[in-house]
Order: sequence, then C-alpha cells, then structure tokens
Amino acid sequence: MTFDGEKPVTTSYDLPVTEPLRALMRRGWGERESEIITAHESAPWSASRRASVSARFPGKRLLIPAGRFKVRNNDCDYTFRANSAFIHLTGMVAGDIVPESILLFEPTPTGHEVALFVHPKNDRNLESFYRDRRHGEFWVGRYLSLAEIKKKYQINARNIRELDEFILSKKETLVHRGEDPDLDNNIPAHEKDGELTVALSELRLKKDEFEIGEMRKAVQATIRGFADVVKSLPEAMAHPRGERVIDGTFYKRARTDGNELGYNTIAAAGAHACVLHWIRNDGPALSGDLLLLDAGVEVESHYTADITRTLPINGKFTAAQRTIYEIVLTAQEAGIRAVKPGAKYRDINNACMKVLAEGLSRIGVLPVSAEESIDPNVGVHRRWSVHASGHMLGIDVHDCAKARGEQYLDGELAVGHVLTVEPGLYIQPDDLLFPEEFRGIGIRIEDDVLVTEDGVEVLSRELPRDPDSIESWMASLLQ
Ligand code: GLY
Ligand code: MN
Ligand code: MN
Repeated sequence: MTFDGEKPVTTSYDLPVTEPLRALMRRGWGERESEIITAHESAPWSASRRASVSARFPGKRLLIPAGRFKVRNNDCDYTFRANSAFIHLTGMVAGDIVPESILLFEPTPTGHEVALFVHPKNDRNLESFYRDRRHGEFWVGRYLSLAEIKKKYQINARNIRELDEFILSKKETLVHRGEDPDLDNNIPAHEKDGELTVALSELRLKKDEFEIGEMRKAVQATIRGFADVVKSLPEAMAHPRGERVIDGTFYKRARTDGNELGYNTIAAAGAHACVLHWIRNDGPALSGDLLLLDAGVEVESHYTADITRTLPINGKFTAAQRTIYEIVLTAQEAGIRAVKPGAKYRDINNACMKVLAEGLSRIGVLPVSAEESIDPNVGVHRRWSVHASGHMLGIDVHDCAKARGEQYLDGELAVGHVLTVEPGLYIQPDDLLFPEEFRGIGIRIEDDVLVTEDGVEVLSRELPRDPDSIESWMASLLQ
C-alpha cells in the first residue's frame, strides 16, 4: 500500500526548496506533545462497540478505513469527513481524525487485537511536514501524535507505514469497502465483505447512552439555529435572495457554536417548498409565503439532528396554509403515537399516510376514498407526499442505510432507536387538481424521536409545532 506524505503533495506554483532551507528545516524544533490530554467520554462506548464487532467476526481480519480526501476541484478538497462506521468504532471527534487512517482488527486466539493506523503527519524528519499542502503540519495544523491518540481514545495507535506488515500476511480479510479506493484496490474482495458493512450499519441501530446524549446536543444546537433564522426573517424579506440569508444564518450558528451541518440546509420559501430537497436556496423569502426550513447541526462527535419546521415568513399563517398545516400536524402526531418498542417500523409511515389521505379526501382532491387510497396497491394520495415519513438518525442523517430490510424497513422498533417522523404535503404550483388558493403550499413537519421503554420521547419537543405556538414563538423572537 502507498500512503501520501513521504512525497509531499505540492503544486506547479509552489516555490522550490533550496538545500540550505532543507537542512535548516531538519533541526531546532521543540517537543509539542500535550500533557493535558485525558480520555474522551466516548472511549468506553466505542471499546464496547469494537468488542461486538470482534465477537461477530471471529478469526477474520477486518479493515475499516476512515476514508480519503475528496477533490472538489484541482488541488482543493472538500472538508474531510470520515466514514460513519470508522467514527462509531473509534469515537473520535471531527478535528482528531487523520484522513487515510485505517482501523485494523487482527484476529488472535481469543478475539482480536485492534489498532488504529495513522499517517505520521507530525514527523519532522519528513519534508512533508512543511511542504505538503494536504497533510503537512505547516499547512493543515498539528494532528494528535500516536501517544496522544492512545491516551484520548484508549486505542492502540501505530504508524500507517507498519500496516503492510499485517496486511501482507495471508489471512481471511474483510474490508469495509467503498470508503478508501486504495484499500479496495489492494485487498482482494472477500465474499463476506458485504456482511461486514451490513453488520457495522446494524450495530448503529440502537444508540447507547453516550450517543443519545450527543443527539440531544445536536438537537439543542439545531434549535438555536432555528431561533436565529426566525430573527433573521425581516432581513431575509428585504433581500432579493432571502433564502440565502436564512441558509447563511443557520450555518453561522452551526459554525460559531463549533459544529457542522449534518446535510445541506433546505431553505425553501414559497413554492420551493414543493421541491423536496431544495438546496439551491437562491430565491426570495416573501411576506405571505411559507418557509420550509429543514436543517440539522452535526456536533463535534458527528451526531446530527434533522428537523423541519414550516413557518409563515411574516409570522402569521393564512387560512389555506393552516388548513394544510393542520393535516400534516395531525399526521405527524399519529406517526409519533405509533412509535413504541415492538411496533413495526412501517406502522409509523402507515399512521402518517392514513391521516394525510383522510385530509386530502376532506378537501375533495382524492379520486378514490381515503380507505382505498391507503391500500398499498393504490396509494394515489402519494401524488402530494412522495417521500417516506421518516428514517433512522444518528451519525448519518439517513443512518444505518446498509441495514437489512428485516432489521429496518420491515423490522420492529426497539428501545434506543432514534428516528425522524416527518410527514409532508406538497401542492405543486401548477397542480390543477387543487383549488387555486392551495397551490404552491409545501409543508413538512419533522421531529427527532427516541424509542424508550415507555414509548417515545420527542427529542426536539422544545421547538414549537402547532400553528398558534409557532406564531407566538415567532412574535416573541421578533419583538
Ligand atoms: N433532510 C433530509 C431528510 O429529512 O431526510
Ligand atoms: Mn429527515
Ligand atoms: Mn430533514
């Protein structure tokens, strides 16, 4: 395997290095190891997750890469974000993960020895530390040393150059594929590679206590962003690209709190709300229209919230907007009531869809009865609601996506699952089946819920949901 760093990543416009400079750069550096690093709160939790993985794959060598840089253009990369299985098994926070790291489970007679192989970016004997614009300490900042990683994450950390010693010895090896092209190309495919990826996804279905704490932080950070957005609405209304004001306001809150976004913000004003993943966010935000804001903060530990509120931009719902809003709200309440341990995952979607179909039927737009429409072989109400009413949530916004159907879509809810409940109705501006006053209205209400022993806890309950509470909450922020 080859790893970047020994040959610095430079560009055509970098200045050459002279011999005297090269010689001077090799000496005169002090020790920078930090003494104050202590074990991170995630350490015991990720150790226990690693133990589950070890027990599930006895005798097999396992390789789980952090992932590589993704080029945006020429020599500029997207901000690095490690893959979620790696994050789950190391517990590392965003700034501490070194791109190209690889987590190795080496089988032993009693289980596995686990080691994290990390690029030695702080090695001052290498030119890369001052020349490498992708990895060098002079360019991207200092990384934790191997000793610091051991101390903070309680995991054996080694120089990635030593990984070959292991992977060149013949042993059945499974790779979590699709994250590191070099690893994928260097290790022959194994018929059980896919099983590893599925197991790592399913291991994330039930959140432990640490994870639930992080989800609560993500939700609270997101709520702060929603409040800031409400305060920014007068500025947004006065701006030709009001959606950008909203998008930027939410992002500013996430970034200044020390966080990231879990996905691109959807700041959809007016009929843009009918575009389910409207992330262009370049339209105006007009008084009298609604704003559908679907946004989630990803905290340092990488856990994200995923919340949607549909708000009247000028603070007051119109009668037509309220009519549609109330249907979606009732649908969401029915969906949330369906959440309890042992319930079928699909019950949530069914509960939401039944209420949506009944509401559409009352307005008189369904060509069949609500009862007929919710027959899975009919489903015509879905013209106005084509997405599912939720998904698992965690390190990924659409978490556990590689879990088998029987564990997820066709499975049962269990204590510790965290998911969204997010029904919506979207009446396209050119939908001639709806009376004119409803056209261009798009409403989604999305909350993040935890399955508990007693049923359900709505993690995002502090964010107002019913139209009256939304109006008074907005008024209180705007005075
Ligand atoms: N924000 C994407 C979703 O709600 O699934
Ligand atoms: Mn969602
Ligand atoms: Mn969402």
